[in-house]
Amino acid sequence: MDFQLTEEHLAVQQAARDFAQTELLPGVIERDEHQKFPAEQIKKLGELGFMGMMVDPKYGGSGMDTISYVLAMEEISKVDASCSVVMSVNNSLVCWGLETFGTEEQKQKYLVPLAKGEIIGAFLLSEPEAGSDATSQRTTAEDKGDHYLLNGTKNWITNGNSASVYLVMAQTDPAKKHKGINALIVEKNSPGVTVGKKEDKLGIRGSDTHSIMFQDVKVPKENRIGDDGFGFTFAMKTLAGGRIGIAAQALGIASGAYELALKYSKERKAFGTEIMNHQAIAFKLADMATEIEASRLLCLKAAWLKDQHLDYARASSMAKLFASETAMKTTVEAVQVHGGYGFVKEYHVERLMRDAKITQIYEGTSEVQRVVISRDILRD
Ligand code: CAA
Repeated sequence: MDFQLTEEHLAVQQAARDFAQTELLPGVIERDEHQKFPAEQIKKLGELGFMGMMVDPKYGGSGMDTISYVLAMEEISKVDASCSVVMSVNNSLVCWGLETFGTEEQKQKYLVPLAKGEIIGAFLLSEPEAGSDATSQRTTAEDKGDHYLLNGTKNWITNGNSASVYLVMAQTDPAKKHKGINALIVEKNSPGVTVGKKEDKLGIRGSDTHSIMFQDVKVPKENRIGDDGFGFTFAMKTLAGGRIGIAAQALGIASGAYELALKYSKERKAFGTEIMNHQAIAFKLADMATEIEASRLLCLKAAWLKDQHLDYARASSMAKLFASETAMKTTVEAVQVHGGYGFVKEYHVERLMRDAKITQIYEGTSEVQRVVISRDILRD
């Protein structure tokens, strides 16, 4: 067993850290306040090779491993979780899904520009009445011979307006339940696609979250991913990797808040000494550091399993469950360490606290992760 990161891993980590400090930090409070999508920053992330990190270079990606992806996600999320969710959805849901299960034509047409960061993708599974209960898809894809006719509404779609390419899960045969679901590649500018209003969110306010409506949208058969009925398995397999990305995002939010709390506690004086010298603060920092380290190890273990082509669904759910609970707990404590300053925007920790909450909800709530983990344990 080797806990040492390689030179390449350290270089990726440093590049992401530098990018976060120079490109993300300066406007992050304003983007959060005005719900401004980080378009320029995402473009630059694409130029750095961070929008298709794990994609084979022959499809425009950077050919890196999942460990590099976790390291980069942590660094970007320390500063701007709105930016990192765009990066995460594009990398681990859209690019990975297409590279693993797409046809050569689909890869050439969609994966190459997505992996280069020239365009952004979105993953459309959730519906008004199908969130955690993802098999209850109401969006329909009627088989019309050479194409599907898509009708329905998707909710809570990250990158809903900024994406050009949607991966849409839709029901083809309700009698077959989850075995009647297909995954379809839909271009946003197709006739019949409408982008609903932007959600006004508690956190990750720089990312754009929309509902998307489909009315008689014609989707060519060649845009189906995998065999007929493969859509639910596609979604579950893709989400297993996506959860590593969100776990790493939660880890970054937690470690960003911890670093700010540590710095503040070394500077701020009360009762005649820096507040870090008070056990009330020092013990908080000790708990934060311990839980963050445990989250990091879970993230890296899940990433390692994926890189070794071993089963990683349980590990990714464990990483997401623990890291997201840690993000919530750590950010609340980081605000507390800052006292009144923690409650105002310029100290950043209140934003991190708001951003942390979504990591317990999207790509499967904490309860969904417990379902995945417990079922897997019972199969042992
Ligand atoms: N790999 C392959 N197949 C899998 C799988 C996996 N990881 N997980 C489940 N499956 C298969 C099962 O084997 C089963 O197939 P069979 O019947 O053929 O054996 C089938 O899928 C159905 O599985 P379950 O019976 O376990 O289904 P369920 O209805 O009990 O639900 C669930 C399980 C874990 C709760 C699932 O519905 C789930 O993950 N829900 C949450 C969905 C989610 O994460 N949504 C997030 C939206 S995307 C998002 O948030 C992106 C963003 O914008 C940031």
